[in-house]
Amino acid sequence: MQKLIAWIDDRLPVVEAFEKHMSKYYAPKNFNFLYFFGVLSFVVLANQLLTGIWLTMSYNPSAEGAFASIEYIMRDVEYGWLLRYLHSTGASAFFVVVYMHMFRGLLYGSYKKPRELVWIFGMTIYLALMAEAFMGYLLPWGQMSYWGAQVIVNLFGAIPYIGEDLALWIRGDYLISGITLNRFFALHVVALPIVILALVVLHILALHEVGSNNPDGIDIKKNKDENGIPKDGIPFHPYYTVHDMVGIVVFLFVFCAVVFFFPEMGGYFIEKPNFEPANPLKTPDHIAPVWYFTPFYAMLRAIPDAFLGVVVMGAAIAILFVLPWLDRSPVRSMRYKGSLSKIALVLLVISFCVLGYLGVVVATPERTLWARILTAVYFAYFILMPWYTSIEKTKPVPERVTMK
Ligand code: HEM
Repeated sequence: MQKLIAWIDDRLPVVEAFEKHMSKYYAPKNFNFLYFFGVLSFVVLANQLLTGIWLTMSYNPSAEGAFASIEYIMRDVEYGWLLRYLHSTGASAFFVVVYMHMFRGLLYGSYKKPRELVWIFGMTIYLALMAEAFMGYLLPWGQMSYWGAQVIVNLFGAIPYIGEDLALWIRGDYLISGITLNRFFALHVVALPIVILALVVLHILALHEVGSNNPDGIDIKKNKDENGIPKDGIPFHPYYTVHDMVGIVVFLFVFCAVVFFFPEMGGYFIEKPNFEPANPLKTPDHIAPVWYFTPFYAMLRAIPDAFLGVVVMGAAIAILFVLPWLDRSPVRSMRYKGSLSKIALVLLVISFCVLGYLGVVVATPERTLWARILTAVYFAYFILMPWYTSIEKTKPVPERVTMK
């Protein structure tokens, strides 16, 4: 075995790469449970790729055959139901995990210098993930797949001058049709997974170049021993590889409970109208995207002008990209920031969750008013950040990481 490794290593630096990224990558020793969500993102990504490959073997990407092929997978293909539920639950799990992962970034200032690129690659993954989920949702060719895609693609039509042509170009037809389904299928199973994988590699390379942040937001590289090893760091392998197993096992318990007992999650993971085949002549009473898009959908509906709504929705995502340059605080972690930052983050989380709820339910005048207020709260978090992070009083940051 050692000879084989040596033979390979002479031709490809596998040992060096393993040491750089695993056994000699010194991660801060004070990681808490929120640091599980990075590795869990890997787990769900692997699940989506593997189950996706096997689903593709029995799926038929045509307007005539798509819906029936899903039923075939559910009833006739051996363990097809399991593959499908792993994949559909996996999509929602991906967003749960990624939202927690992003929240950890906000809480501990992980986006701040020198991790701006880590954050930007992360945000690009998030965008690609949204496109991936949106296109995947059309594939079962149910009522919600069809009408959800119709609503979202029509949004492009709201762009002045080029909008109509752009929507036509995306659909490849005057309405969502088998042609749209074919291209979404190609993008969903080939193009976007490659993009996401490449971005994940860049995300990790950029992180390992500067090193991981931690709940104290302290730079552990400032405190090294005589061998040049950070005093507050421990080798990622074996310490965190073993530690991460705990998070993975707990996650798999919860994930499997959902897959086996509540795969539709009361209509949140698989929406009820999607059990009916797509019908271009029958609009469902109430069209709502899957839960992970609804905060942005609520913002869109809150704005009376269609184009302005699209702009606001786009801006809500775009503003996250520039976050590293909005935060002027001298400290990274929320543990040492002042009360204004803390209140702002709590308000952001509340506004995001309530907007998520408002995007699911039918719009009424009161709900629209709330959606407007909460959209303003969401944006205030970012727009006012340069102000509140520079005026508030921060707490002194300790020299070494704290262990509770
Ligand atoms: C497929 C999706 C993703 C995967 C597989 C992934 C994976 C990882 C892993 C393994 C880590 C190191 C472990 C950890 O710190 O938790 C990490 C760190 C990080 N990720 Fe992601 N990530 C993904 C998406 C995102 C997104 C969407 C964002 C934010 C927009 C993001 C922002 C960050 C940041 C800022 C760090 C550094 C955290 C720190 O050092 O405190 N990631 N990611």
